[in-house]
Amino acid sequence: YKKITTKSLVDMKANGEKISMLTAYDFTMAKIVDTAGVDVILVGDSASNVMAGHETTLPITLDQMIYHASSVIRAVDRALVVVDLPFGSYQSDPKEALRSSIRIMKESGGHAVKLEGGREIKDSIKKILNAGIPVMGHLGLTPQSIYKFGTYTVRAKEEEEAEKLVEDAILLEKLGCFALVLEKIPAHLAERVAKSISIPVIGIGAGGGVDGQVLVIHDMLGMNNEFSPRFLRRYLDLYEQMTGAISKYVSDVKGKDFPNEKEQY
Ligand code: KIV
Ligand code: NA
Repeated sequence: YKKITTKSLVDMKANGEKISMLTAYDFTMAKIVDTAGVDVILVGDSASNVMAGHETTLPITLDQMIYHASSVIRAVDRALVVVDLPFGSYQSDPKEALRSSIRIMKESGGHAVKLEGGREIKDSIKKILNAGIPVMGHLGLTPQSIYKFGTYTVRAKEEEEAEKLVEDAILLEKLGCFALVLEKIPAHLAERVAKSISIPVIGIGAGGGVDGQVLVIHDMLGMNNEFSPRFLRRYLDLYEQMTGAISKYVSDVKGKDFPNEKEQY
């Protein structure tokens, strides 16, 4: 696949090729992620936590999401770029959802939007899709509802919530979503969903029986050593490495080692 489209992702699922997805929120990181061959870049509202230091995803605004997304878009040649609709930009009514999606598409150049929820936001999803904007769904632990859940623990462990989730996934496919994120649910349930629909299911903390995986880039690079859920695999320990490099710089400056003869004009 030269340039990833929503169609390529559906083809990957049909061919049994797993989909790789990571978040990015800025130009430099997006360039690295795209060059390394990641299929989908998510400009997640996790930017609220990772970039802005908020405790939840709720405070980030549509303008801020557009700023992050436009920085990412300028860096990307191959990946499909999906942008989260932030809390408060789509829940009131379908018109607001469409207006927010149009702003993302026009002002950032993103390729698709992602919204949290199932049947509750069905009319909004229809409206966005009718305007020609691809939609990715998001079910399970949906962080914009954290104050309703009261906890970040695994969702859909009980029968009732699990059945609603399966029905919502089928509905999202029927409405025309091109893919679906499942966050922090039992692996057997996620696998059941992936087998029940033909659009790709991308998991985070949802096991290996789905069609692809997504992680927050800062978490998988180990830039954040406070967040250690079971599903997170750390590929680097950048927190340690960066702190080490920066303290070395401080001591080089203090010790008059930097700059040396060759590092000046
Ligand atoms: O905002 C985000 O990073 C996400 C992923 C965790 C799926 O929605
Ligand atoms: Na998100």
